[in-house]
Amino acid sequence: MSQTLLRGRHLITFQEWTKNEINMALDVAGDLKRRFATGEPHRLLQDKTLFMMFFEQSTRTRNSMEAGMTQLGGHAHDLTPDKMQLSHGESAKDTAMVLSRMGHGIACRNCFYGIGNNYLREMAKFSSIPVLSLQDDLYHPMQVIADLMTIQEYFGKNTKGLKVTVSWAYATSHAKPLSVPLSQILMFPRFGMDVTVAAPKEFPLTPELVKIAQQNAEENGGKLNFTDNMDEGFEGAQIVIPKNWGGFANFSMDEYNRNEEECRKQMKANLEKHKDWICDERRMKLAAPEVKYMHALPADRGNEVTDAVIDGPASIIYDEAENRLHTAKAVMALTMGGRP
Ligand code: CP
Repeated sequence: MSQTLLRGRHLITFQEWTKNEINMALDVAGDLKRRFATGEPHRLLQDKTLFMMFFEQSTRTRNSMEAGMTQLGGHAHDLTPDKMQLSHGESAKDTAMVLSRMGHGIACRNCFYGIGNNYLREMAKFSSIPVLSLQDDLYHPMQVIADLMTIQEYFGKNTKGLKVTVSWAYATSHAKPLSVPLSQILMFPRFGMDVTVAAPKEFPLTPELVKIAQQNAEENGGKLNFTDNMDEGFEGAQIVIPKNWGGFANFSMDEYNRNEEECRKQMKANLEKHKDWICDERRMKLAAPEVKYMHALPADRGNEVTDAVIDGPASIIYDEAENRLHTAKAVMALTMGGRP
């Protein structure tokens, strides 16, 4: 039985929510999706205020949260550091304490490597209202719950043994955070999935979190395997999620922040060795006939993926993006509203 008392809970990573709690969020997301489709009002957060702090750009996260708050009958403030006293050094503690006195939820995106997760945790320590991660350097919970909902819509609720490949891909846009693949390898094996990570050896995932993901697999009947060959990763996969991430995990957080310029130089040199890590039609043919292509977006077209694949019949990216709205609303309704 899923427990229903989520009011007041923070969401920094779903690793800190039980599977029953995640199932409750998915269930509520499904209900809110139906109500959105039929135009049935669902003002579950009437007159409530969410403060959204974005240290980085966003299309899906910002708009799913803000539109979501409007649809739930509340209001979201769209804040960036330059609009706040953060830009003059105001602490996470003071920011959290003050916003806690004025509204009902704080949501924050801070992806700076070695900084973002600590920043969110510091706010959560002092906030008396829920702190919801909009992505940090390690986790992207709002993305992974939407991914899980989308996977269940296509493959059914019983995802045991489902073959999912989380693959690194080449990109020129920017060195993307580790948070999406890390959240996926932590979450999917909890739902029994058979997860393969394909990545060049220069682009590892954070070892401490890989260890936890492996425990999740052992405890929940899932699997977690690794390969440094993209073709091998695609063989027989029912879902492929090829996406770039930076080589951040080659450096300790201290080392990176002491010498960011040099670390970025090394990451760039490693990146250029793997231009052929693209999701194209040849690779899609190595996967299972029913394969689906997913991407958190934004995608680097022509580098991470060809147009033929991302615009092709296997692609479910827009369903995945739409589910960001329904799952974000479910998380907000449960943590900022819900039963007292
Ligand atoms: N997937 C995702 O988080 O997209 P945005 O960066 O546009 O929010």
